[in-house]
Amino acid sequence: MAGMAKVGRLIKYSVERYLAGFTSFAAAFETRKDISDRSYESLVPDTLPCEPGTDLRVLGIGSGSGGADCVILKKLLQRHDSVYNRVIDPSEDMIKQYKALVREDSSLGAVKFDWRQQTAEEYFQTKEDTKFNLIHAIHVLYNVEDHDATLRNMWEQLADGGYMMIAMESDKRGMGKLWYKLWEEFGQGDRLKTELRTSGDVRQWLDTRNISYVTSVNERNINVAECFHEHSKEGSVLLDFLTKTAYVTDVPEIKSMALKYIRSNSSVVDDKIIFQSSIETILAIKN
Ligand SMILES: C[S@@+](CC[C@H](N)C(=O)[O-])C[C@H]1O[C@@H](n2cnc3c(N)ncnc32)[C@H](O)[C@@H]1O
Repeated sequence: MAGMAKVGRLIKYSVERYLAGFTSFAAAFETRKDISDRSYESLVPDTLPCEPGTDLRVLGIGSGSGGADCVILKKLLQRHDSVYNRVIDPSEDMIKQYKALVREDSSLGAVKFDWRQQTAEEYFQTKEDTKFNLIHAIHVLYNVEDHDATLRNMWEQLADGGYMMIAMESDKRGMGKLWYKLWEEFGQGDRLKTELRTSGDVRQWLDTRNISYVTSVNERNINVAECFHEHSKEGSVLLDFLTKTAYVTDVPEIKSMALKYIRSNSSVVDDKIIFQSSIETILAIKN
């Protein structure tokens, strides 16, 4: 059907619509971003094995404006004298914001930044021998073209004894569980080819390869009240983002299922309707 929203296609359908959705999603946060960024800190080990006399090497995939990266780097600097940090992100604007953050923070002086404005796909095409002690992808794997290939490439660039850290919506609650429900009812083809990917997909990738890992879950509160206001433009882009489906309000069946799920999994606080995004962070070690 022409114009029919395709479940699990938002950035692929329209980058503009995705960005509008992301902006209203960020605005709907009731949990401060700097506080939620700190949740990655506890999982990062104090010391990472690296050859004596060399910098600790970190690779960040889709680092965005660098908030989560900097939390991780600061933790590592407590025990390591210097860190080499390679940043992969296709967005010029994100890299600009990240650089500004670094300029203002003198505690990151011992980090050597290597900026690469490109997608993970472009980056992994240029084969390199550099191995990293920590490779992370925080809220990015929804957007890479090939989920499995990205994990495989990340794993390959990891040094022995190195760690891979991934954060995504959990499949067990909140948004991730909503995606599985939507997919069950309206999905077509291979879910992993869409943006409806969760931490469960990463766990499965690791389990298949007998790779051991630890996980931690963190909740972020999102005020979704606007989604329940008929004809609210803000609410409709927010619902797009929550369902990862462009123009979802144009398809009554999908819209009503999503709203019903969200409503029955949220709590009303004054004039707010609080829905939770449940982030699972996975830390795997390469032995
Ligand atoms: C939701 S943000 C997450 C940023 C950061 N990791 C954080 O947790 O705050 C997703 C980032 O992935 C980047 N991105 C989008 N597609 C990508 C791709 N194919 N490869 C690498 N990064 C990508 C975007 O530019 C954006 O900065």
